[in-house]
Amino acid sequence: MDFSELRKRAKAHGQDHVFAFWDKLGEAERASLAAQAEAVDFALIDRLKKEFLEAGAAAPAAKAKLEPSPVIVTPKDENDRKAYAAAWAEGEKALRAGRVGCFLVAGGQGTRLGLKGPKGCFEIGPVGKRSLFQLHAEKIAALRAQYGAKVPWIVMTSDANDADTRKYFQEKGFFGLGADSVMFCVQENMPAVTPEGKLLLETPASLALAPNGHGGSIKALNDSGALKWLRGMGVDTVFYFQVDNGLNRLCDPAFIGYHLRAGAEMSSKVVRKRDWKEPVGVIGFNNGKLGVIEYSDLPEDMAKATLPDGSLRFWAGSIAIHVLDVGFVERLNKGGFQLPYHKAKKAVPCVGADGQPVKLKAGEKNGVKFETFVFDALPLARTALTMETPREDDFGPVKNAEGEDSPASARAMLTDQYARWLEAAGCKVPRKADGSVDARIELAPATSLFGEGLAKHKDLKIKPGGDVVI
Ligand code: UTP
Repeated sequence: MDFSELRKRAKAHGQDHVFAFWDKLGEAERASLAAQAEAVDFALIDRLKKEFLEAGAAAPAAKAKLEPSPVIVTPKDENDRKAYAAAWAEGEKALRAGRVGCFLVAGGQGTRLGLKGPKGCFEIGPVGKRSLFQLHAEKIAALRAQYGAKVPWIVMTSDANDADTRKYFQEKGFFGLGADSVMFCVQENMPAVTPEGKLLLETPASLALAPNGHGGSIKALNDSGALKWLRGMGVDTVFYFQVDNGLNRLCDPAFIGYHLRAGAEMSSKVVRKRDWKEPVGVIGFNNGKLGVIEYSDLPEDMAKATLPDGSLRFWAGSIAIHVLDVGFVERLNKGGFQLPYHKAKKAVPCVGADGQPVKLKAGEKNGVKFETFVFDALPLARTALTMETPREDDFGPVKNAEGEDSPASARAMLTDQYARWLEAAGCKVPRKADGSVDARIELAPATSLFGEGLAKHKDLKIKPGGDVVI
């Protein structure tokens, strides 16, 4: 688009300040700023401004009627175990038939961890230097070997980390998976704005852009051609997972089996909340519609409510592991579909009217980001299923630099999982008085994917405080 046209368009939406430094920019800077501005959906920003930022926008929504929703719980009796075994068999059948593909969302900025570069490059191995990307890749390789299927892999990145992610995969030789069986797709950006809805400039020559949230994955799957790619290989079922959870049971056959048996369009895994305060969203009904009830939207009395046996009424914490039906994602994308946006106040690096970086005070949130969440697709599914999974087998994310959900806690959970698998196979694992594993253990996914095949290691000698890698 011609620059005067672009400027006119920005002006019509009260956003032509983004060209305030135009006269001082070089040719390449101008081209890049113009390309960013051209990609902005100004009408959408106007709509979000009205919806979220203008006077009256914060009017409380109609009172929500929140209720727990049904969950397939971990097997408790013989009947449950039979159903679980049948679901497992069904999932394995789908895997063997090549109907299943993997979809990793890795477009986030990992701000809480404070890492430079893609979070997937973070070395999570309890003993070695196995990165999150490598761990996921090795699981996919193990699935391929186990089920004799292609199990294609789609990796969603964002502008913030796309180049680095691709470079990492290249450097690692695609972890031996074959470049033709891995596809990258890039999610869209959303501009950050001031509380008044004005676009923020990160530098005089660039907008403050951020990935549009993991909900951007629904559109990215479509726009990138990934859905067609999957269809072309006969894949109709997609296993969705997050980059920061190395513990996840990738392509868990039982989960896929329950999903297929129910004819579900979207399925979700949940864990029992640690306690009422744990800040995770729970899956439940909101005015009769299934979805994730965000932590901040669950009133304290409801969060604390218990069942007659003393357990929490709203216990089903969402862990962002899903199965998606390809036809469902195709249907969602008909007619310029977009998931709803959510507003988040954030500290956004930006320049002021003088073109100099604005110094933010500690904790100051100067900007507003708009994000979409993948779980907002849940109420749109004709059939959706929720399955409980033991936290210790499926959810050990790396979110924070320290404390809960940190590298230390995630590595301890991996070690503990490997220890439990070895113990189940008859191996003696040293444990401390508090029950924690007194060793560092790392199992390659090729050695065991879901805990199987470890009998041959039952005589393994693990010294207290020692390291074991198999
Ligand atoms: P989080 O919400 O935990 O965000 O993402 P994050 O970017 O990793 O970390 P913070 O909040 O900045 O500290 C959960 C998963 O969703 C992906 C992330 O890469 C991660 O796998 N995600 C998040 C995207 O792919 N795109 C996004 O826009 C946001």
